[in-house]
Amino acid sequence: MDLKKKNVIWFVFYLLNSILLIIWGTLIFWLIKSHIIWDPLMFLLTFIPILFLIIIPLYFFIKSTVKLARNFKIQERLTISKKYLIASFFIAFIVWSLSILAFVLYLFPNAQFYNYNDGPYLLWNDDPKTTMTIIWHTKNPTESVLDFGESIGDMERFRISALEKRHIVKLRNLKAGTLYHYKIPDFSTIIYNFTTAPSASTPFNFTAISDTHAGLDPSEYGAVIDAMTPYQYDFIIHAGDLGPFVGEELDGWHIFFNHMERHASTSPYMVAIGNHEYGVDIFARNFKYFFPYNYVEDWGHYYSFDYSNAHFVMIDVFQNQLDWGGFLLEAQEAWLRQDLALNKDKWLFVVLHAPPYSTGDFNMHQKLASQLAPIFYENQVDVVLSGHDHITKLFGLIALKAGEAHTFL
Ligand SMILES: [Fe+2]
Ligand SMILES: [Fe+2]
Repeated sequence: MDLKKKNVIWFVFYLLNSILLIIWGTLIFWLIKSHIIWDPLMFLLTFIPILFLIIIPLYFFIKSTVKLARNFKIQERLTISKKYLIASFFIAFIVWSLSILAFVLYLFPNAQFYNYNDGPYLLWNDDPKTTMTIIWHTKNPTESVLDFGESIGDMERFRISALEKRHIVKLRNLKAGTLYHYKIPDFSTIIYNFTTAPSASTPFNFTAISDTHAGLDPSEYGAVIDAMTPYQYDFIIHAGDLGPFVGEELDGWHIFFNHMERHASTSPYMVAIGNHEYGVDIFARNFKYFFPYNYVEDWGHYYSFDYSNAHFVMIDVFQNQLDWGGFLLEAQEAWLRQDLALNKDKWLFVVLHAPPYSTGDFNMHQKLASQLAPIFYENQVDVVLSGHDHITKLFGLIALKAGEAHTFL
């Protein structure tokens, strides 16, 4: 066989194996993303065979590249095969560029390159009665210095001497139901305040918002904050979709922080993750970087907290990347059942981004409803708060047992 024909065959091999590699690579990527491989049986049945199978196309991919390169060297007069070679190297360039891009986007947490002065904002990742977490971001690495106290004239200094761009100060051993003042001397001249959760069962206000997409129209989030101000709420519940873009776009986070710090600097900001906190950032690393809540597991972004006589459960409905917003994976469902059962004596609020029931554009999340509604009934959840659909709907569901009322908002 002459070299020209051989080159055509090697080129076909090259193309086929490139495609196979992309398919296997994508499969591995989705398996990791969907957490399926963490189940030992699934790991044996799927991940190992794929790793094994990838060796074959990888072998032919390398072999065909080497052959084509060699033939190119010794047979310069074969102008047709040169075309194949140029095309094949072009494809190789695209494949490898996309791989590198994927590596950068998927595996590299880019929030470390966040270059804005933002905050401060508050959140709880521990007992709301005795702790408060204050976060702010600086363009350049600096020490974290914060003054706080019950009176403006008599503040205590908190200092972390490590140089950081993300400053997380967690105040502990605070008094319950107490007003504290704080300021960040190197960052701003403003004196902020916050109040810790009450020690006993006390009436309280909280505000629930969602899908601020803050930044699409600068007046929108501001108007919502203005409308809420007279109610003097103790904390903010956000059902996800925070900023104008998606998780990996750092500029969008900055726009969002510019809006939210207006009220999050004095009221803790408690978010149930939305789809816009993911985007290409499939592990929501940026969200975790900006909102270090007390997550139950590394891969999911769910947690719960108490305030007065109420218990708030913040669910991650996008944890299962094979069925986005479709249902919860086993571990989260088990945790949800246990967490609700342990807190039955309190008012139960569940916050999840995609609504189990809706008549909006995204419609009902049937699987979510059939998985979660029985759990909510069983554990007498009082209110379910969702977003995602950008509409307001209130569903009062007929109780299975007399005296039980459930509201899906
Ligand atoms: Fe949204
Ligand atoms: Fe959404």
